[in-house]
Amino acid sequence: MSGVTNDQRLINLLDAYRQAPAEFQATVYWQTYEREILDTLARLDINQLRSGRYKVLSTFGFNDTQYAWQGKAPGISQSILKLLTKMFSDKRDLAPYKMKISDIRDAALQHCALMAELTGTAAPDTIEVSRFGNPQDLFEIGGKPYTMPFLSNYIRACFANKHIRFTGTERVVELGTGSGYQVEVLKKLYPELTLLCFDLPAQLYLCETYLNEALDRSAIVSSEATRDWTDLSGVEPGKVHFFGNWQFPLLRGSQMDVFWNAASFGEMEPSVVQNYLDHITGQANWIYLLQARQGKETQGKKHVELATALGDYDRMLAGFELAEERDAWHAHRKLSASGGYFEGVWRKR
Ligand SMILES: C[S@@+](CC[C@H](N)C(=O)[O-])C[C@H]1O[C@@H](n2cnc3c(N)ncnc32)[C@H](O)[C@@H]1O
Repeated sequence: MSGVTNDQRLINLLDAYRQAPAEFQATVYWQTYEREILDTLARLDINQLRSGRYKVLSTFGFNDTQYAWQGKAPGISQSILKLLTKMFSDKRDLAPYKMKISDIRDAALQHCALMAELTGTAAPDTIEVSRFGNPQDLFEIGGKPYTMPFLSNYIRACFANKHIRFTGTERVVELGTGSGYQVEVLKKLYPELTLLCFDLPAQLYLCETYLNEALDRSAIVSSEATRDWTDLSGVEPGKVHFFGNWQFPLLRGSQMDVFWNAASFGEMEPSVVQNYLDHITGQANWIYLLQARQGKETQGKKHVELATALGDYDRMLAGFELAEERDAWHAHRKLSASGGYFEGVWRKR
């Protein structure tokens, strides 16, 4: 079985996106990936979604591989990969400080457990990651399956909870949901949460496909159900809803507890970010952002025309105060790309 381009849900999303106003079209950074993502969908075996076979999908979160550069230079990288896998296997402790892969995983889970204690969040061993899509880097600790991205999204949830103190029944709007891994963690921590996911068409399609498997199917309200909505009166409490990013104006006048955007605004142009924020700042109580601290690169293959830095977000969020910002962390290391990332929570003044 391969290829999903005949799926009517995807066709409908792509058709609607092509008719969307300019402010909802991908900007230069994401235009770079559009063709490659669509080509990948044409040959995708959905059961291998997270196997590392489809490199471009890692750009929006399906990054369950141990070696990110795998497959870039097939001949050389495969042999180096074999060597590294042998060197850093569980049987040897060759890595600096005598670390094995299992030590890194244990430390990551321990980081999560400590964040849970510090922030009053349910412990990481109360939840587990989905096995759907054959995640290459699946590992078990204490009989529970995890992946490093799952634990990293868990750390983000802890940081947000430190300030927001989720009761569990909030309405959360995420723009740029990517793989949906953050939604998976939030929904597993807080099963009654209502989530509204917005993204570009192909990304949203795969996000829904994944969460349909990772979560209880009865909790999913498909983009097929929401595509003709003219308001949000159909939102079902406790469920996860999927919308094209061009449907963002539906949010005007509608209350939400939390607006969430991670590694996404920074890859747009500042005027596009401003447009999205204009739709939600009147109605959100909390805003969670994780972005490149100085903004993304303005040169190179993947670039933005104008960078958006931490100070720019703070200026755009005039009616909000910054509760806390800190360097952003994966479960096992700091986010170091683009000179480093911050994560921050703003509360309505
Ligand atoms: C690097 S991915 C991050 C995904 C996820 N939030 C995470 O942290 O793993 C960036 C996300 O932003 C979305 N995105 C990029 N440009 C966008 C735009 N103009 N409007 C809406 N979403 C956009 C992409 O489709 C993608 O899902």
